[in-house]
Amino acid sequence: MIESTLDMSCRIGPVTFKNPLIMASGTFGFGKEYGNLYDLSKLGGISGKGITLHPRPGNPGIRVYETPSGMLNSVGLENPGIASFLADECAFWEKLDTVRIVNLGGGTVQDYVQGAGMIDADSRIRERDGRKAVDMIELNISCPNVKAGGMAYGIKTSVAREVVREVRAATSLPLMVKLSPNAEDIADMAQMCEEEGAEAVSLINTLSGMKIDVRRRRSVFENLYAGLSGPAVKPIALRMVHQVCKRVHIPVVGMGGISSSEDMIEFIMAGAQAVQVGTYNFVNWHAGAELAEGVERFMIAEGIRSLDEIRGIL
Ligand SMILES: Cc1cc2nc3c(=O)[nH]c(=O)nc-3n(C[C@H](O)[C@H](O)[C@H](O)COP(=O)(O)O)c2cc1C
Repeated sequence: MIESTLDMSCRIGPVTFKNPLIMASGTFGFGKEYGNLYDLSKLGGISGKGITLHPRPGNPGIRVYETPSGMLNSVGLENPGIASFLADECAFWEKLDTVRIVNLGGGTVQDYVQGAGMIDADSRIRERDGRKAVDMIELNISCPNVKAGGMAYGIKTSVAREVVREVRAATSLPLMVKLSPNAEDIADMAQMCEEEGAEAVSLINTLSGMKIDVRRRRSVFENLYAGLSGPAVKPIALRMVHQVCKRVHIPVVGMGGISSSEDMIEFIMAGAQAVQVGTYNFVNWHAGAELAEGVERFMIAEGIRSLDEIRGIL
């Protein structure tokens, strides 16, 4: 912290973040490893590794591939399942002095609903001094819909609406819906989330991409396509965040390729309430300890006292 009079805080529904820097799902585990490198209480929040009702082994074959200014991943949501998360990880999580967001995936609407219900119930049991063990659910609608040939829920607004509506009814925890840039119309999708009672939307998840191994004459990935992230996607993410901020009245959390404090500020100027940082954690393990301080330095240099002075200023 550089100067205590600066207001770096931001709000989503009833939840206050001490600063706008949230670590993105799938790139930060549940924070344990990074907690050995720096103090996790410096973070505004952590979105944990994506979890699903049932354990998932993830995809076979090559899972990550570096691209110019980015990476492709085909991890396939490998995770131990919600029961194991609640039994093994939550005890570490509930002690963290930062906002704790569970990233929830699913293969059927029923999976999503049951998963949200379990997280909700467990977090009530663990409630201490009025604070639940989980502060928020981030609903990942980029997962393949097993009953619709594997097309992701987040592509068509009508399909995604059912998931958002059912999960909204299954939990009283604040709900942030994570949007796919592969959606037919991302602003429509965001508006639907607002209509269905979500407290916030976050965007973007990875863009569908491909890499061909020319000697083997086949895709590098067993699943053919993979998710592109990192600086290569940042201009697209920023444009989408700007479009969504123009459409909805709920807070928008921006992400996609952020790798500097200046990138963070761009997203806030586009209208984002907060931001998430994913792929850059693999490049700079100390990103979480450094980026928010860079925003503070910018605020001091520019005479800005509160992020509200620049949010959506464009
Ligand atoms: C290896 C890897 C795993 C990811 N796993 C998840 C996940 O489980 N759930 C999710 O919502 N997003 C997941 N994402 C997407 C990121 O959270 C983020 O939306 C995306 O990578 C764009 O941000 P970035 O360019 O800062 O990484 C994953 C990304 C990567 C690179």
